[in-house]
Amino acid sequence: MKLGTPLSDTATRVMLLGAGELGKEVAIELQRLGVEVIAVDRYPNAPAMQVAHRSHVIPMTDAQVLNGVILAEAPHIIVPEIEAIATEVLAQIEAAGLARVIPTARATQLTMNREGIRRLAAEELGLPTSPYAFVESAAELAEAAHRIGLPVFVKPVMSSSGKGQSMIEAVEDAGHAWVHAQSSGRVETTRVIVEGRIDFDFEITLLTVRSIKDGAVRTDFCAPIGHRQVKGDYVESWQPQAMTPKALAAAQSIAGTVTDALGGLGVFGVELFVKGDEVWFSEVSPRPHDTGLVTLATQTMSEFALHARAILGLPVDVGQRDVGASAVIYGGMDATGIAFEGVAEALSVPTADLRLFGKPESYERRRMGVATARGSSVEEARERAREAAAKVRPTAG
Ligand SMILES: Nc1ncnc2c1ncn2[C@@H]1O[C@H](COP(=O)(O)OP(=O)(O)OP(=O)(O)O)[C@@H](O)[C@H]1O
Ligand SMILES: [Mg+2]
Repeated sequence: MKLGTPLSDTATRVMLLGAGELGKEVAIELQRLGVEVIAVDRYPNAPAMQVAHRSHVIPMTDAQVLNGVILAEAPHIIVPEIEAIATEVLAQIEAAGLARVIPTARATQLTMNREGIRRLAAEELGLPTSPYAFVESAAELAEAAHRIGLPVFVKPVMSSSGKGQSMIEAVEDAGHAWVHAQSSGRVETTRVIVEGRIDFDFEITLLTVRSIKDGAVRTDFCAPIGHRQVKGDYVESWQPQAMTPKALAAAQSIAGTVTDALGGLGVFGVELFVKGDEVWFSEVSPRPHDTGLVTLATQTMSEFALHARAILGLPVDVGQRDVGASAVIYGGMDATGIAFEGVAEALSVPTADLRLFGKPESYERRRMGVATARGSSVEEARERAREAAAKVRPTAG
């Protein structure tokens, strides 16, 4: 593995497809290794664009436009940060040997569609999941809900961050859930997954890293991250999440199996439900995970540093140094160019740190920043992170 000088003939070029807050941290880690970073997103001044060598504003779902930008920039490595990408272009680029796609083009295609990853996990790999069905009408939805047993979760197959999702407790609500799923999916798809509810004790993200050491691919697991979701969006995460040795072994086995099947190099966020010793696979992001922002405070190498190293074919260290937590800071208003008050107070909370993402536009429920903190216990760290996040007050300019 040879790393070049950015902006020269020897440059190692990495293109980020999606330039949000997770991409921004990956870009910073790549910059530290002298990698030339090109950030791409659908709006100007996205977080990662602000720390990249160059950027492009394009509709990433437009195959022709995306292909054009990739050919013009000729990156060595392409790093998708979001799911809404014309992934068939990535498959062509990879097949033609023009660039490496992280982790693989096939993994990005399988995981962008709930059906692809669910069938792989449950039907091919035999991993435990919630009972599920795919339906294409309100009537089929009602029938599936009845068969699986209420309550059920209803999700468009192409969506993320809770968009178009609902949980229904009565078959009569199927019609409403169907309409909601249709209106909020990423693309015009009529397909929806119906999932039986898993009555879990807690849910975790198991960050799983595929990297190369001494010429061979290896898999390492970070300490489990616990998190709390509200409407499909994470509001708080902490590391480690205490769990039984049996559950941890099962979680690592599931994560190892699914990431082996997806292949390639980099960080994966494997989402799992846990009840006692029992573990269910939920879904997987073939990239750093939002709940993993906590690793900025807890690990020797954050998930972003791990991703940067792993995709470059370099060895990683998944060790945890501290107990810690993260708490999300929302925009709280719809406005552009907002300002943040209370930053000094937030940073006066013991061990607290902040990331303000620099997003040009704020929405009421848009994630604009995150507070992290450490502690002698998870409870103390969570308390501090929440306290620090609450002290940051977005204001209109
Ligand atoms: N079958 C289920 N049983 C119990 N809880 C569920 C189930 N499916 C989803 N949930 C809850 O809803 C949350 C969001 O679901 P899921 O991860 O599938 O959606 P998402 O839109 O991909 O969210 P994100 O993109 O934020 O990960 C889960 O983290 C979990 O808290
Ligand atoms: Mg999820």
